[in-house]
Amino acid sequence: NFQLFRTIQEVRDWRLNQIINGHSVGFVPTMGALHEGHLTLVRESLNENDKTVVSIFVNPSQFAPTEDLESYPRTLEADLEQLAGLDGSESIVVFVPTVREMYPSGIPLDVSLQKGAFVTVLGVSEQLEGKFRPQFFRGVATVVCKLFNIVYPNNAYFGSKDIQQTIVVRRMVKDLLIPTNIRVILTCREKSGLAMSSRNQYLSSETKMKASEIYRSLLAAKEVYDTEDCTAEDLESAVLETLKEYTNGVKASWNLEYVSVNEYETLDELKSSEKVDKTKPTIISLAVHVPRATTGTARLIDNIVLGAK
Ligand code: PAJ
Repeated sequence: NFQLFRTIQEVRDWRLNQIINGHSVGFVPTMGALHEGHLTLVRESLNENDKTVVSIFVNPSQFAPTEDLESYPRTLEADLEQLAGLDGSESIVVFVPTVREMYPSGIPLDVSLQKGAFVTVLGVSEQLEGKFRPQFFRGVATVVCKLFNIVYPNNAYFGSKDIQQTIVVRRMVKDLLIPTNIRVILTCREKSGLAMSSRNQYLSSETKMKASEIYRSLLAAKEVYDTEDCTAEDLESAVLETLKEYTNGVKASWNLEYVSVNEYETLDELKSSEKVDKTKPTIISLAVHVPRATTGTARLIDNIVLGAK
């Protein structure tokens, strides 16, 4: 009961009509494998705009050659069904472009072979996720900029599960004078507390259950933050202590990539001994590799914002 566009031209034609009719447009960019977290963003957009565009595009330029581009879940039929089930779904249009349309000059996965125009947001892309995924935010900013140039949304919706992504996109929009309002929506979680993620599909039900400890570890840090004056290290220790059964010792099968405490506005990382300034919002975040149900590992991330925010 909604339109599905495959080409950029179709979206541009549709968009022009919305302008002529005075309709506001909200936009939810996704890579598909939709879950309740994505649907929360779509519902918010449906509430706040006359029309909503949902894009489904597994963006090659944000994957490193070693990452899961090939195996990333692609579930278009199920995605469309979920969108069709939403109240107000007749206001949705879905955009499913091809790689060729989005990257007319091609996009070699080997970064050293890439040429042409990309969007880089300096200062907020290098730390945290950027340290472990060096080209990631260039890929994200580039594709989001391209999508904004196609959809021209009044409002665009992003989840705070990917908190650095929201900061990178906000900064891009500000500095490149893009006339889109960025709305950030709270992380949607399973009953267990596990942040919903398309990559949770990789997990066995047992690992999925254990993975709820990730959020518990962040809540343990929040407990420390709420009850005492603390340093970055105090918060990190609370996380490590909660996860130690899975990350330390001979039986441990998780690989904790980082735990980090950062100032929200600047994304500056606090040194271990540094006192946490409670007059400013602070992010505590982590990335952890857990075993997949088949072979290999899945990389999960989560965060909470402490303080004023
Ligand atoms: P994807 O991982 O599909 O996520 C699409 C949007 O859904 C992002 O804004 C993400 O933060 C949000 N989201 C994911 N899990 C969520 C949850 N549990 N609760 C709330 N929101 C959640 O993020 C991307 O795709 C890509 O990087 C993209 C922005 C589409 C660019 O390619």
